[in-house]
Amino acid sequence: MTTASSAARPFLKWAGGKRQLLPQLRRFYPQRFGAYHEPFLGSGAVFFDLVSVGSLRRGAASLTDVNADLVGCWLRLRDDPDAVIAELRQLDAGYREAPDTHYYRVRDELFNPGRAAVWNGGAPAAERYTPALAAMFIYLNRTGFNGLFRLNSKGKFNVPRGRYPNPRICDAENLRRVADALSAAAARVAHRPYAAVFEDAHSGDFIYLDPPYAPLSATARFTGYTPVGFGSGDQQRLQQVVVALAARGCHVLLSNSTAPEIAALYDGSAEAERVGIRAYTVPARRAINSNAGRRGAVPEYIITNIPARAGCP
Ligand SMILES: C[S@@+](CC[C@H](N)C(=O)[O-])C[C@H]1O[C@@H](n2cnc3c(N)ncnc32)[C@H](O)[C@@H]1O
Repeated sequence: MTTASSAARPFLKWAGGKRQLLPQLRRFYPQRFGAYHEPFLGSGAVFFDLVSVGSLRRGAASLTDVNADLVGCWLRLRDDPDAVIAELRQLDAGYREAPDTHYYRVRDELFNPGRAAVWNGGAPAAERYTPALAAMFIYLNRTGFNGLFRLNSKGKFNVPRGRYPNPRICDAENLRRVADALSAAAARVAHRPYAAVFEDAHSGDFIYLDPPYAPLSATARFTGYTPVGFGSGDQQRLQQVVVALAARGCHVLLSNSTAPEIAALYDGSAEAERVGIRAYTVPARRAINSNAGRRGAVPEYIITNIPARAGCP
């Protein structure tokens, strides 16, 4: 199906973004399903992929993440794209004049104080995010170091400027397509922990889960998404949710690293096997790595109870 919204693509660079893995993941998209849930939303690569092939029913997409700033940005883009784009154009112009000064002024004098003004306990309230904050979130993502979102111990965004000679800050056309895609799908976007999917999902629904990956080595843990991180206990609790969703009759699709702790949870685990879950090892490529020499092919797991289409190992 080709519509105006079909070409929308992720508008953020997000650590662990799944555009590279889409050819592998597509082999497991169910032919038919009820609602779609993406509880570790990030930049939403799989959501946009499903939109592009016209697989989503109106009013049946639930996109959630525990990063309140990220969700606030998605919400404002869905509901007020013109205001976000207007703000982003101004930021773009300011950056072109004096990149370094502008970046740090936006980060320290506008973005962090603006977040504090909509603060709700430990994080900004996603629903109170303004178009100006959403534009700054995109701006900092496009111009900051490796597109990272990192907070210091006081909860302030502290990523330094990246060294991009000519970053694409405002892609107004794609931002409008994203807003159209979200409206056309009547997508629910909410600030929620992943485990809430267990309350929302019904038999026949499709759930794509892309948690922070378990580290392959003790020094490799990426902790940039949220202050609390995602440790071994979280991976174990996630496995329980995945097994329970499969037992309920949901189509579950999960990506993760091939760390031994993930192998133990899904690859040959009797509990996972009982509900028809299998772990496939696929080649993948890491998009965000400050060390260019380490951006090579790394195997990853695709873990699912959905039968592979022809051509899949
Ligand atoms: C690997 S990224 C998802 C990337 C996404 N699939 C994409 O294409 O960009 C993991 C996401 O999980 C979110 N996250 C971390 N802990 C979470 C939790 N407990 N509940 C929900 N989301 C969480 C992070 O904020 C981050 O956006």
